[in-house]
Amino acid sequence: QGELHTSLLGKKIMHFDSIGSTNDKAKDLALQGAEEGTVIIAEEQIKGRGRRGSQWVSPKGKGIWMSIILRPDVLPKNAPKFTLLSAVAVAQAIREVTALPVQIKWPNDIIYQNKKVCGILTEMSAEMDFINYIVVGMGININESIKDFPEEIQGKATSLREIKGENISRQRLVRSILENLEKFYLEFVKEQNFQKVLELWKSMSGILGKEVRAMGNNDVIQGIAVDINQEGALIIKEDNGKIHEITFGEVSLRGV
Ligand code: BTN
Repeated sequence: QGELHTSLLGKKIMHFDSIGSTNDKAKDLALQGAEEGTVIIAEEQIKGRGRRGSQWVSPKGKGIWMSIILRPDVLPKNAPKFTLLSAVAVAQAIREVTALPVQIKWPNDIIYQNKKVCGILTEMSAEMDFINYIVVGMGININESIKDFPEEIQGKATSLREIKGENISRQRLVRSILENLEKFYLEFVKEQNFQKVLELWKSMSGILGKEVRAMGNNDVIQGIAVDINQEGALIIKEDNGKIHEITFGEVSLRGV
């Protein structure tokens, strides 16, 4: 099914039939010194994890359950950028392979007509002034039918096959994700160029210009999502004109 055109990501690919969580495995391997670009893929996850401690249902052979180890030589404050960068790479890859105009919901869900197709879980280990590793884990719903999803998310999730009405090659999509991710990753870490990612993010965003609610620890901010800044923070403008910068990790978006 064609070759992988990358120099870094996927030089080593570890494939598991069944695993707890590819993110847990990637973190273990990273701690043991695994090389940057190592990719962990599983056919099935028994303990797939989502953001905020939720479970990520990962049935056998139905989706892409994959984690990638990165070791960028940049300050930890840049971490949110890797989340955006990954979302852009995955959205771009899905668009290339399926021709579906999927969108990105800040910070990193990929949606189609407001239903979630992909979630990304970025986990990092860092000291004050360096990143030890970043694990980017992605779960992409490909060949599930709606009834494969837990009941409580059936109205909120969908799969590429449900949308397209035909099977999608997981292999082609994995290849395109790794190629896109490598391109944006190297542009950023080698050339300090984050512009392309921001532009693509904006052009594929499903929320800019829309009314959003961001949930902080104690407060709720409601307003229009007007922009994303150079650091990857979301800018929300309240009705009274007050501007808020929402940094990924502090809040989540609801009701978009
Ligand atoms: C989300 O909550 O939206 C993020 C979901 C991330 C799921 C992927 S599947 C591969 C990797 N391994 C995990 O345990 N989680 C991520």
